[in-house]
Amino acid sequence: MSGAHPNLTVVDHPLIRHKLSYLRARTTPKKEFKELVDEIAMLMAFEATRDLPTEEVEITTPIETTTAHRIRGKKLVLVPILRAGLGMVDGVLSLMPGARVGHVGLYRDEDTLQPVEYYFKIPPGAADRDFLLLDPMLATGGSASAAVDGLKRRGATSIRFLCLVAAPEGVERMRRDHPDVPVLAAALDRGLDENGYIMPGLGDAGDRLFGTR
Ligand code: PRP
Ligand code: URA
Repeated sequence: MSGAHPNLTVVDHPLIRHKLSYLRARTTPKKEFKELVDEIAMLMAFEATRDLPTEEVEITTPIETTTAHRIRGKKLVLVPILRAGLGMVDGVLSLMPGARVGHVGLYRDEDTLQPVEYYFKIPPGAADRDFLLLDPMLATGGSASAAVDGLKRRGATSIRFLCLVAAPEGVERMRRDHPDVPVLAAALDRGLDENGYIMPGLGDAGDRLFGTR
Protein backbone atom coordinates (compact mmCIF):
# COMPACT_ATOMS: atom_id res chain seq x y z
CA MET A 1 0.00 0.00 0.00
CA SER A 2 1.14 3.54 -0.66
CA GLY A 3 0.63 6.33 1.93
CA ALA A 4 -2.11 8.55 0.50
CA HIS A 5 -3.51 5.81 -1.77
CA PRO A 6 -4.81 2.79 0.15
CA ASN A 7 -5.70 1.01 -3.12
CA LEU A 8 -2.19 1.35 -4.58
CA THR A 9 0.87 -0.87 -4.30
CA VAL A 10 3.99 0.51 -5.94
CA VAL A 11 6.12 -2.47 -6.85
CA ASP A 12 9.50 -0.97 -6.03
CA HIS A 13 12.55 -3.04 -6.95
CA PRO A 14 16.00 -2.02 -8.24
CA LEU A 15 15.46 -4.01 -11.45
CA ILE A 16 12.12 -2.31 -12.08
CA ARG A 17 13.57 1.17 -11.40
CA HIS A 18 16.48 0.48 -13.73
CA LYS A 19 14.27 -0.76 -16.56
CA LEU A 20 11.80 2.09 -16.05
CA SER A 21 14.57 4.63 -16.54
CA TYR A 22 15.20 3.26 -20.06
CA LEU A 23 11.48 2.91 -20.74
CA ARG A 24 10.90 6.58 -19.96
CA ALA A 25 13.79 7.89 -22.06
CA ARG A 26 12.56 9.40 -25.33
CA THR A 27 15.56 7.96 -27.20
CA THR A 28 14.70 4.33 -26.41
CA PRO A 29 13.82 2.65 -29.71
CA LYS A 30 10.62 0.70 -30.35
CA LYS A 31 12.15 -2.79 -30.08
CA GLU A 32 13.75 -2.07 -26.68
CA PHE A 33 10.63 -0.28 -25.50
CA LYS A 34 8.53 -3.41 -26.11
CA GLU A 35 11.13 -5.66 -24.43
CA LEU A 36 11.21 -3.40 -21.38
CA VAL A 37 7.41 -3.33 -21.10
CA ASP A 38 7.38 -7.14 -21.12
CA GLU A 39 10.19 -7.43 -18.59
CA ILE A 40 8.65 -4.97 -16.14
CA ALA A 41 5.21 -6.57 -16.57
CA MET A 42 6.72 -9.96 -15.73
CA LEU A 43 8.41 -8.63 -12.60
CA MET A 44 5.15 -7.00 -11.53
CA ALA A 45 3.13 -10.14 -12.18
CA PHE A 46 5.43 -11.95 -9.76
CA GLU A 47 4.36 -9.50 -7.05
CA ALA A 48 0.71 -9.37 -8.13
CA THR A 49 0.34 -13.12 -7.69
CA ARG A 50 2.18 -13.35 -4.38
CA ASP A 51 -0.99 -14.17 -2.44
CA LEU A 52 -2.44 -16.80 -4.78
CA PRO A 53 -3.56 -19.74 -2.67
CA THR A 54 -1.68 -23.02 -3.00
CA GLU A 55 -2.57 -26.55 -2.01
CA GLU A 56 -0.50 -29.57 -1.07
CA VAL A 57 -0.12 -32.32 -3.63
CA GLU A 58 1.75 -35.58 -3.41
CA ILE A 59 4.36 -36.05 -6.11
CA THR A 60 7.05 -38.59 -6.75
CA THR A 61 10.55 -37.36 -7.55
CA PRO A 62 13.09 -39.72 -9.10
CA ILE A 63 14.17 -40.36 -5.51
CA GLU A 64 10.99 -40.60 -3.38
CA THR A 65 7.43 -39.49 -2.82
CA THR A 66 7.00 -36.09 -1.20
CA THR A 67 4.56 -33.23 -0.66
CA ALA A 68 4.72 -30.18 -2.94
CA HIS A 69 2.54 -27.09 -3.47
CA ARG A 70 0.52 -26.06 -6.47
CA ILE A 71 -1.66 -23.03 -7.13
CA ARG A 72 -5.30 -23.74 -6.43
CA GLY A 73 -8.51 -21.83 -6.73
CA LYS A 74 -9.81 -19.61 -9.47
CA LYS A 75 -8.31 -19.69 -12.93
CA LEU A 76 -6.34 -16.62 -14.00
CA VAL A 77 -7.34 -14.47 -16.95
CA LEU A 78 -5.15 -11.69 -18.33
CA VAL A 79 -7.10 -8.83 -19.86
CA PRO A 80 -5.05 -6.27 -21.77
CA ILE A 81 -6.75 -2.96 -22.54
CA LEU A 82 -6.14 -2.43 -26.25
CA ARG A 83 -3.89 -1.31 -27.62
CA ALA A 84 -1.11 -0.58 -25.17
CA GLY A 85 -2.05 -3.34 -22.70
CA LEU A 86 -1.13 -5.86 -25.39
CA GLY A 87 2.49 -4.93 -24.80
CA MET A 88 2.36 -6.48 -21.31
CA VAL A 89 0.78 -9.82 -22.21
CA ASP A 90 3.85 -11.80 -23.31
CA GLY A 91 5.78 -10.78 -20.21
CA VAL A 92 3.03 -11.94 -17.86
CA LEU A 93 2.37 -15.11 -19.90
CA SER A 94 6.02 -16.06 -19.62
CA LEU A 95 5.36 -16.58 -15.89
CA MET A 96 1.93 -18.19 -16.24
CA PRO A 97 1.62 -19.66 -19.73
CA GLY A 98 -1.65 -21.42 -18.87
CA ALA A 99 -3.54 -18.19 -18.16
CA ARG A 100 -6.33 -17.33 -20.56
CA VAL A 101 -6.33 -13.98 -22.32
CA GLY A 102 -9.38 -11.76 -22.82
CA HIS A 103 -9.35 -8.39 -24.58
CA VAL A 104 -10.96 -5.03 -23.88
CA GLY A 105 -10.89 -2.52 -26.71
CA LEU A 106 -10.95 1.06 -25.44
CA TYR A 107 -9.46 4.26 -26.72
CA ARG A 108 -9.37 7.61 -25.08
CA ASP A 109 -11.12 10.30 -27.08
CA GLU A 110 -8.42 12.94 -27.50
CA ASP A 111 -10.82 15.86 -26.97
CA THR A 112 -12.99 14.64 -24.14
CA LEU A 113 -10.44 12.17 -22.65
CA GLN A 114 -13.43 9.84 -22.18
CA PRO A 115 -12.91 6.12 -22.93
CA VAL A 116 -14.80 4.67 -25.91
CA GLU A 117 -15.39 0.88 -25.91
CA TYR A 118 -15.04 -0.89 -29.27
CA TYR A 119 -14.34 -4.54 -28.31
CA PHE A 120 -14.89 -6.85 -25.33
CA LYS A 121 -14.12 -10.57 -25.24
CA ILE A 122 -13.41 -12.62 -22.10
CA PRO A 123 -13.69 -16.37 -21.37
CA PRO A 124 -17.01 -17.69 -20.00
CA GLY A 125 -17.55 -18.16 -16.27
CA ALA A 126 -16.22 -14.77 -15.18
CA ALA A 127 -17.41 -15.21 -11.58
CA ASP A 128 -15.05 -18.18 -11.12
CA ARG A 129 -11.93 -16.46 -12.42
CA ASP A 130 -9.24 -14.08 -11.17
CA PHE A 131 -8.68 -11.22 -13.60
CA LEU A 132 -5.42 -9.33 -14.11
CA LEU A 133 -6.30 -6.20 -16.06
CA LEU A 134 -3.26 -4.85 -17.92
CA ASP A 135 -2.50 -1.36 -19.21
CA PRO A 136 0.88 0.40 -18.99
CA MET A 137 -0.71 3.80 -18.27
CA LEU A 138 -3.17 4.92 -15.58
CA ALA A 139 -3.72 8.61 -16.34
CA THR A 140 -7.19 10.05 -15.61
CA GLY A 141 -8.31 6.50 -14.78
CA GLY A 142 -11.22 6.69 -17.21
CA SER A 143 -10.06 3.73 -19.31
CA ALA A 144 -9.21 1.48 -16.36
CA SER A 145 -12.46 2.32 -14.60
CA ALA A 146 -14.52 1.62 -17.74
CA ALA A 147 -12.70 -1.68 -18.29
CA VAL A 148 -13.45 -2.73 -14.71
CA ASP A 149 -17.11 -1.68 -15.21
CA GLY A 150 -17.21 -3.94 -18.26
CA LEU A 151 -15.66 -6.89 -16.43
CA LYS A 152 -18.04 -6.50 -13.48
CA ARG A 153 -21.07 -6.27 -15.81
CA ARG A 154 -20.00 -9.64 -17.19
CA GLY A 155 -19.81 -11.19 -13.71
CA ALA A 156 -16.19 -10.69 -12.63
CA THR A 157 -15.71 -10.30 -8.87
CA SER A 158 -11.94 -10.69 -8.50
CA ILE A 159 -9.96 -8.08 -10.43
CA ARG A 160 -6.48 -6.56 -10.04
CA PHE A 161 -5.19 -3.76 -12.19
CA LEU A 162 -1.53 -3.79 -13.26
CA CYS A 163 0.05 -0.72 -14.81
CA LEU A 164 3.57 0.57 -15.26
CA VAL A 165 3.12 4.30 -14.66
CA ALA A 166 0.26 5.74 -12.62
CA ALA A 167 -0.86 9.32 -12.00
CA PRO A 168 -2.39 10.21 -8.61
CA GLU A 169 -5.57 11.31 -10.45
CA GLY A 170 -6.06 7.83 -11.92
CA VAL A 171 -5.32 6.03 -8.68
CA GLU A 172 -7.87 8.24 -6.89
CA ARG A 173 -10.47 7.68 -9.65
CA MET A 174 -10.02 3.90 -9.24
CA ARG A 175 -10.34 4.18 -5.46
CA ARG A 176 -13.59 6.13 -5.87
CA ASP A 177 -15.12 3.95 -8.60
CA HIS A 178 -13.72 0.54 -7.67
CA PRO A 179 -12.37 0.43 -4.10
CA ASP A 180 -12.37 -3.38 -4.31
CA VAL A 181 -9.81 -3.42 -7.13
CA PRO A 182 -6.16 -3.28 -6.03
CA VAL A 183 -3.93 -1.18 -8.28
CA LEU A 184 -0.30 -2.23 -8.75
CA ALA A 185 2.08 0.19 -10.45
CA ALA A 186 5.81 0.26 -11.13
CA ALA A 187 5.83 4.00 -10.41
CA LEU A 188 3.54 6.73 -9.11
CA ASP A 189 4.24 9.92 -11.08
CA ARG A 190 3.59 13.59 -10.34
CA GLY A 191 0.36 14.26 -12.19
CA LEU A 192 -1.22 15.03 -15.58
CA ASP A 193 -0.49 17.78 -18.07
CA GLU A 194 -3.24 19.78 -19.81
CA ASN A 195 -3.59 17.03 -22.47
CA GLY A 196 -4.02 14.26 -19.92
CA TYR A 197 -0.46 12.93 -20.32
CA ILE A 198 1.35 11.66 -17.27
CA MET A 199 4.27 13.84 -16.05
CA PRO A 200 7.05 12.84 -16.30
CA GLY A 201 5.54 9.63 -17.70
CA LEU A 202 6.86 8.00 -20.84
CA GLY A 203 4.72 9.60 -23.53
CA ASP A 204 2.10 7.72 -25.50
CA ALA A 205 2.62 4.05 -24.67
CA GLY A 206 0.56 2.70 -27.58
CA ASP A 207 2.38 4.85 -30.13
CA ARG A 208 5.80 3.90 -28.74
CA LEU A 209 4.92 0.18 -28.67
CA PHE A 210 3.49 0.05 -32.16
CA GLY A 211 5.46 2.83 -33.86
CA THR A 212 2.38 4.81 -34.81
CA ARG A 213 3.75 8.27 -34.29
C1 PRP B 1 -3.84 5.06 -23.28
C2 PRP B 1 -3.41 4.04 -22.25
C3 PRP B 1 -4.65 3.83 -21.44
C4 PRP B 1 -5.25 5.22 -21.43
C5 PRP B 1 -4.96 5.86 -20.13
O1 PRP B 1 -4.55 4.46 -24.27
O2 PRP B 1 -2.89 2.86 -22.81
O3 PRP B 1 -5.54 2.88 -21.97
O4 PRP B 1 -4.63 5.95 -22.50
O5 PRP B 1 -5.57 7.10 -20.05
P1 PRP B 1 -6.77 7.37 -19.03
O6 PRP B 1 -6.34 6.79 -17.71
O7 PRP B 1 -6.85 8.86 -19.01
O8 PRP B 1 -8.01 6.72 -19.54
P2 PRP B 1 -5.08 5.28 -25.56
O9 PRP B 1 -6.45 5.78 -25.29
O10 PRP B 1 -4.04 6.27 -25.96
O11 PRP B 1 -5.25 4.14 -26.63
P3 PRP B 1 -4.16 3.17 -27.29
O12 PRP B 1 -3.75 2.17 -26.24
O13 PRP B 1 -4.93 2.56 -28.41
O14 PRP B 1 -2.99 3.99 -27.76
N1 URA C 1 -1.90 7.41 -22.24
C1 URA C 1 -0.59 7.28 -22.56
O1 URA C 1 -0.22 6.43 -23.40
N2 URA C 1 0.29 8.08 -21.94
C2 URA C 1 -0.07 9.00 -21.03
O2 URA C 1 0.80 9.69 -20.47
C3 URA C 1 -1.45 9.12 -20.72
C4 URA C 1 -2.34 8.31 -21.34
